[in-house]
Amino acid sequence: MEIDRRAFFASLGGVAVVNAMDPEAKAEALEHYMSDALDLSLAGETTAEQVVPAPPEATVRRGAGSLFTPQGPQNDRKMPLLAPMPEKPTLVDFYKLRFAPANHVLQSATRALKTGMTEEVILACLLHDVVQNLIKVDHGWWGAQMIEPYVNEKISWAIRYHQALRFYPDSSVGYEYPELYTRLYGQDYVPPQYIKDSYELARKHKWYMEARLITVNDLYAFDPNAKVSLDPFIDIIGRHFKQPKEGLGFDGSPTAHMWRTMMFPDNPL
Ligand SMILES: [Fe+2]
Ligand SMILES: [Fe+2]
Repeated sequence: MEIDRRAFFASLGGVAVVNAMDPEAKAEALEHYMSDALDLSLAGETTAEQVVPAPPEATVRRGAGSLFTPQGPQNDRKMPLLAPMPEKPTLVDFYKLRFAPANHVLQSATRALKTGMTEEVILACLLHDVVQNLIKVDHGWWGAQMIEPYVNEKISWAIRYHQALRFYPDSSVGYEYPELYTRLYGQDYVPPQYIKDSYELARKHKWYMEARLITVNDLYAFDPNAKVSLDPFIDIIGRHFKQPKEGLGFDGSPTAHMWRTMMFPDNPL
């Protein structure tokens, strides 16, 4: 996907705003920009170059998840229309009714599937960014926490650390520092200390490669021409995601409230 540097900077409020952002925030903004641009271009509504900021009256804190902010091309930004959810929602219901079109994570998981990765890695790729519908800041940590009660610990661990690993190359699996980051932010781009610390912890961990493989699939997952579907992943979800019989949000788990918040994003309190 081609990124227009000027349009991207404009979407953040201009060069001065970008200069004031810390490197982690810049990288987050870039990933969100690309993900949104991908969804828009696949929807046939606009191109990446036409993605521009929400009008000033729609101002929200940047970390707010996609369900809570207007989406779409400039001058036609609208709050996402959300269908009611079933009484006992499943993860698949969330993909269809809250995460859709979810092109970025579907492309990541499709690449993991096609390259013969384990089902745990495939599911980690499928889930790795879905929490951005709820919240974008520190999405690795939030995303891991949200799914933790329902998956093998290895899967949530990998999602937690993919956020930090993006900034660090690993030639053993062909992962290079994203050229795009260098192009957009310059050579002297330094992630904040907590990201560096997290990387160093992850590097020595027995599940390092699970998190690393999310980043390997992440880079290839912004293809505006790809056609993807949830269908190939239904059985993998069935085998590795412990769907609560009461429905996500109603099972009393430590993260049930996060699912409910996505289910009912307009509840006042
Ligand atoms: Fe991510
Ligand atoms: Fe991603």
